[in-house]
Amino acid sequence: MYKFTYGMPTTLIVGSNCLVENSDVFRKYGHHALIVTGTHSSKLNGSLEDSILALENENIRYTIFDKVEEDPTLETVERAYVENRDKDIDFILAVGGGSAIDAAKAIAILFRNGISAKEILSLRNLTGIPLVAVPTTAGTGSETTPYAILTLHEEKTKRNIGQSIFPDVAFLDARYTLNMPFSITASTAVDAFTHLAEGYLNTRANLLSDTLAEKGLKLFGECVPALKSRECDIDIREKLLLTSSIAGMVIAQTGTSLPHGMGYALTYEKGVPHGTANGILYPGYLRIFKKTEKLTRLLSLIRMDSIDALSAFFKDILDFEVQLSDEEIRRYVEGLLSNEKKLRNHPERVSRDELISIYKNMLKK
Ligand SMILES: [Fe+2]
Repeated sequence: MYKFTYGMPTTLIVGSNCLVENSDVFRKYGHHALIVTGTHSSKLNGSLEDSILALENENIRYTIFDKVEEDPTLETVERAYVENRDKDIDFILAVGGGSAIDAAKAIAILFRNGISAKEILSLRNLTGIPLVAVPTTAGTGSETTPYAILTLHEEKTKRNIGQSIFPDVAFLDARYTLNMPFSITASTAVDAFTHLAEGYLNTRANLLSDTLAEKGLKLFGECVPALKSRECDIDIREKLLLTSSIAGMVIAQTGTSLPHGMGYALTYEKGVPHGTANGILYPGYLRIFKKTEKLTRLLSLIRMDSIDALSAFFKDILDFEVQLSDEEIRRYVEGLLSNEKKLRNHPERVSRDELISIYKNMLKK
């Protein structure tokens, strides 16, 4: 007997030039958009230009906030709101990678509720003003998830803000990802893979999330040769973008699991990019599974015959240089042991020693 809930309210519009061709979608969201983006890449990859063109087609005014950094902070979110709260903003248009979209979710909440950024962490069930997302990387899947991961300096880590904000619409145009440097392509692709894997090997996995995860894993597998040869054309870019959005749909149902909980410390304290931080933990993570039926299927879907083969692939495509002392490992493991959600999502009982082994078996160059 099945018993689960499936919900994913975001409308996805996919294809080359889909943003400008479907600009009428913006009409119902109002007269003034706040474009939330990073400092550089959206200006170089055509996504900001197309966003402006689409809004101008519909005579919608816009204000640009282009100060979202990688791993955005609560302070940046507050700044975007304070600088623009008197401008009658009707909706947010997030253009960029996960950082821009995650920050935009929190900004949308501030515009709806007029609260301080800190209150986002303590109040529950907050909603935001409408949010449209234009992802320009293929990894985070934030366009199809309710999560917003922010850097919280007070807590010395990154974490989900604990609200549920799905974008209303996401435009998926792989052209915006074409000129991404390979190091970012690889790290974000591995992030998407880890969403699929942690959603698939998850206590909360269900018939529909697994259906999506299996298709996403197959798509990722089709991209492996191109990632190995570092030649990602537009067809591969489109597959990676769809993999990422599908992976977002999976973790929107299941949440992520141990590597995400363990990787945030590597990002916050060691500056390891998010996808890379997850990926280098995978050899140890996959080895702690006692029941391996689903893991074996996962590996076959991505055309890998072993955990070693997957590890060699990650080692080849990811850039990293990280070493941990025993004291750091102990501290990170204690941090994870207090993260009940991530532990609960892992389908088997896991011991402190097993968690330590995940860090100890981290990939090394
Ligand atoms: Fe992630």
